Amino acid sequence: HITMFAARAVFAAGQRRAFSASARNLSKVTVLGAAGGIGQPLSLLLKMNPRVTELALYDIRGGPGVAADVSHVNTKSTVTGYDPSPEGLAAALKGSDVVVIPAGVPRKPGMTRDDLFNTNASIVRDLAKAAAESCPEANLLIISNPVNSTVPICAEVFKARGVYNPKRLFGVTTLDVVRASRFVSEIKGTDPKDENITVVGGHSGVTIVPLFSQSKHPDLSSNEKLINRVQFGGDEVVKAKDGAGSATLSMAMAGARMTDAVLRAAQGEKGVVEPSFVDSPLYKDQGIDFFASKVELGPNGVEKILPVGQVDAIEEKLLEACLVDLKKNIAKGVSFVASNP
Ligand code: NAD
Ligand code: LMR
Repeated sequence: HITMFAARAVFAAGQRRAFSASARNLSKVTVLGAAGGIGQPLSLLLKMNPRVTELALYDIRGGPGVAADVSHVNTKSTVTGYDPSPEGLAAALKGSDVVVIPAGVPRKPGMTRDDLFNTNASIVRDLAKAAAESCPEANLLIISNPVNSTVPICAEVFKARGVYNPKRLFGVTTLDVVRASRFVSEIKGTDPKDENITVVGGHSGVTIVPLFSQSKHPDLSSNEKLINRVQFGGDEVVKAKDGAGSATLSMAMAGARMTDAVLRAAQGEKGVVEPSFVDSPLYKDQGIDFFASKVELGPNGVEKILPVGQVDAIEEKLLEACLVDLKKNIAKGVSFVASNP
């Protein structure tokens, strides 16, 4: 009898484990800015991702329309569009596991990403406040520019409410690695999927530092044209769109890739590494609290921040220039929240 009972108990425990494992695989993903140039294709790509079970789409205009459209795609996930109101925003965020934020204005020719600060800082601050209220434990993926400043803004908002978890806040820099691998493949005649280029620093101009010396083509670290193309790839698109905005389609792909990486790690996959701009120990001794490098993801968000590794003399110089700008960009975000809480 005892043996029988014990066997049943073990079986029941096994079932419970199986149940809770699959329960954890339920994933609500919220997109804030879902009706924009990035938001629309990103929402479509997330609808195509079987790891996403619930898709919540919010924008100050057009969220329900995009949701109705995307909801006809015949994959299993549910799609809901929310009204542009504080209640709609709170409902879109409630219970969310991953919040992706591409809300805000894009650049026009002649502008730097920092020129977007005045408009986007308050948009991101307010969305971060709503997230801190409604889903303080969600992973936050920030796409809105200037990323070097909007990520610190989110951190300050969460800190002020006592809910900051540095392991859950990510600035999306995936597009820089996507570009680097593509541009290298064009030069070397290779398949971009085999080109894994490390890009560190931040996400604007000289703060974007590709480390070709660590790649299969160390000779490229002296290729100034290529380095410049990776650092200013965004400008290439801004110029070509000629006033109609910046990268949206390649960004949607990059944002969907980063979201998938976070979900894969959350659902137990080991060894998921994506570069990202995070609260990082790497340059804290120089007063720089955020830095993009390769990040290993896990069920709790950031699992491990990988070191920059060995760099050559040219890259050393690039890093020096990066740190100067990055420090200013981060400080600007922090002081914005201090004076505009
Ligand atoms: P867009 O103007 O096409 O779309 C932005 C959307 O945000 C619009 O639909 C707008 O209604 C919405 N929005 C504005 N304020 C909002 C708020 N308070 N709440 C919810 N939604 C709001 O712009 P886009 O081309 O999609 O670019 C969006 C942002 O992403 C820009 O800041 C751009 O610079 C940035 N971006 C970042 C990267 C990156 O690599 N991280 C790449 C490309 C673009
Ligand atoms: C990009 O890198 O394409 C984005 O940051 C948008 C921009 O302003 O260049």
